[in-house]
Amino acid sequence: MQKDIGIIMNGATGRICSTQHLANSLVPIMKSGGLQFQNTELVPRVVLLGRDDKKLRRIAEAQGFSDWSTDIDHVLSDDSLHIFFDAAVTSERPSSLKKAIESGKHIFTEKPVASSVNEGLDILRLANKSGLKHGAVEDKIYAPGPQKLLKLVNEGFFGTIVNFTLEFGWWVFDGFERPSSRSSWNYKYSTGGGMFFDMFPHWRYLIEYTLGPIKSLVAAGQTAQKQRQDEAGKKFKVDVEDCCKAILEMESGASGVIISSWANRVRGDDILRFKIDGINGTAVAGIRSCFVQSSNNTPDITGFNFQGKTEENVQSNLYAADWKEVESKEPYVNPYRLCWEDYLAHVVAEKEIRSDYRSGIKDVQLAEACIESWRKKKWVSLSSFN
Ligand SMILES: NC(=O)c1ccc[n+]([C@@H]2O[C@H](COP(=O)([O-])OP(=O)(O)OC[C@H]3O[C@@H](n4cnc5c(N)ncnc54)[C@H](O)[C@@H]3O)[C@@H](O)[C@H]2O)c1
Repeated sequence: MQKDIGIIMNGATGRICSTQHLANSLVPIMKSGGLQFQNTELVPRVVLLGRDDKKLRRIAEAQGFSDWSTDIDHVLSDDSLHIFFDAAVTSERPSSLKKAIESGKHIFTEKPVASSVNEGLDILRLANKSGLKHGAVEDKIYAPGPQKLLKLVNEGFFGTIVNFTLEFGWWVFDGFERPSSRSSWNYKYSTGGGMFFDMFPHWRYLIEYTLGPIKSLVAAGQTAQKQRQDEAGKKFKVDVEDCCKAILEMESGASGVIISSWANRVRGDDILRFKIDGINGTAVAGIRSCFVQSSNNTPDITGFNFQGKTEENVQSNLYAADWKEVESKEPYVNPYRLCWEDYLAHVVAEKEIRSDYRSGIKDVQLAEACIESWRKKKWVSLSSFN
């Protein structure tokens, strides 16, 4: 039996919705005939929602959709549409999600799921009261590198985990020298910008799904590029942080550091580097790959090596040979597609979901705690909420 599920895609013309959620997730799911649940073939029926009719038409035609709208009230009043997905600008999210819940739609959302923990809890209560399903996009845990890291944790490769470092970022041009690769709203407080709220939701689930609960933290932010030029060529003052650091203490006794920055020139093999040190071994994952060094392969370093072993070694990476790449036989599936598969299974087949809206609020909690710590210049503990 074939069954349609109607999905409203809000923010359809945006970078993340048009690429990862449509082109790399829903389009391939639809092209492969849908998702199989028991005897039912579930086929998504997508309506694109946005502000600009021309842009919506362009995306619809390029990706093979026939329905789009610029009228949120109109699509929300359509009973044949069951799910409201939000990947529009962050500042509009809470009001769009509330509207969707009031119209009886299940909700699925990009991060950050709300602008504060309290606001998130209000939305969660509203969804629960109406018996609606909810989910949050937590894609990075499904990337091949973090999956390999998680497998090593589950296999006990590390022994006692003592330390981690998570480094992320690239250079985002300010718009003067070269166009910015990220929309200007990301650099304005009024539109939900700022790196803590933008990226630390990812770091919460990536760290906690791998290493368990975070106990407390101290953090600091900074605005590295103070002026930028927007899409219309207008100069504006950046009033949010674009460069962040945090030290975290874990419930397990391990501790770690996050360095996350849009003013970072990448050297090495990836824009993300998540390194876990255990007594028995260390692993470093990027988005795709993961390398390990066990006790046996750990070199006996006796101090600073100013010259290197040979000229050849100085030019290559002196310590790279002591690392072994983790192989995986798992076929690659786009991480956002896996998020959609989990969420649709939850809505249609009552399958439990880890990345529900509540988990999304915990992601927001880390961002909020970092900002509190930065403002007050003190350690902040992460208590659980009801
Ligand atoms: N999971 C991830 O890895 C990931 C990556 C990037 C972005 N995101 C999230 O997705 C959302 C969209 O990010 P993006 O990078 O696609 O942004 P984008 O600027 O490319 O797209 C923003 C979308 O919001 C719409 N919009 C509505 N009101 C707007 C307003 N007042 N100003 C500007 N745009 C407005 C735009 O039309 C557009 O469709 C954000 O909440 C962001 O945090 C998640």
